[in-house]
Amino acid sequence: MSEYLKEQILELKREKNAIILAHYYQIPEIQELADFVGDSFELSRRAKENDADVIVFCGVKFMAESAKILSPQKTVLLPVKEAGCPMADMAVVKDILKMKEEHPNAKVVTYVNSSVEVKAVSDVCCTSSNAIKIVKNIDADEIIFVPDKNLGSYVAEHVPEKKIILWEGHCCVHNRIAKEDVIKAKEEMPEAKVLVHPECRKEVRNLADYIGSTSGIIDFATKDSANKFIVVTEEGVIHKSKTQNPNKEFYNIRGMTCRNMKKTTMEHILWSLEDNYFQIEIDEEIRNKAAKALENMLVLGK
Ligand code: 13P
Ligand code: SF4
Repeated sequence: MSEYLKEQILELKREKNAIILAHYYQIPEIQELADFVGDSFELSRRAKENDADVIVFCGVKFMAESAKILSPQKTVLLPVKEAGCPMADMAVVKDILKMKEEHPNAKVVTYVNSSVEVKAVSDVCCTSSNAIKIVKNIDADEIIFVPDKNLGSYVAEHVPEKKIILWEGHCCVHNRIAKEDVIKAKEEMPEAKVLVHPECRKEVRNLADYIGSTSGIIDFATKDSANKFIVVTEEGVIHKSKTQNPNKEFYNIRGMTCRNMKKTTMEHILWSLEDNYFQIEIDEEIRNKAAKALENMLVLGK
């Protein structure tokens, strides 16, 4: 990384009282530069609990939107406007409202990987680290789970006492992995433990030694006595796993790259701070409704 570029970013950050939040799927340079790196849940908490005037969110749009929903008084910047999440785009408000009509007793639990408009028609949000807890704790026996059918089916396995109605969405990075990909890696490294994100299909989750969020995966690898791990989530997680555990080995399943998470570069962060680009703006009525769903998550997920 250019030292000059880094210095310019740090100077502008100081001038503007800004912080940089980054997801584990960001490129290593950005993870090293960030004030805080975390999974979606930790990032939304950090976005709320800090004294900065400006948040530069290195991730995808729904993450920056969550920061703005929870901290409307702050300027929230997404350095690359086009960094979206295809799974978030799979959920459509009018179809969710139709599902609600068809299941009047159901509550809508929405994965944070969703637009602000979808959050606004939801009862509570969840992330991969608290979805089971939220569904267990919510005061309803019937749940409409939006938009990830894989995370939803994982939750349904753990909360059999409730009826979970799944939305047909998925993450293209995780859903494309088949059990054969993991079996092949396991044959090459039989001693390695398999760490899987719940956005993967059931046939892949069935092969896991551990299933959890990006932070959960890194924590498990850090605390576990094994020395070798096959990581079945986006490749960015390998960076923190390795820096935190220099004596352990981490292998990714080939092809697990999220194009959108990789759109942000160091230059984009500088330009973003220089020009206040791209500012997340949300209609106040929609923001208030979406904030309720996110605040409910922070309470029910405790
Ligand atoms: P985490 O909340 O586990 O970090 O996951 C976010 C995500 O987008 C996974 O694809
Ligand atoms: Fe969205 Fe999948 Fe990328 Fe996560 S990895 S941001 S769910 S497309």
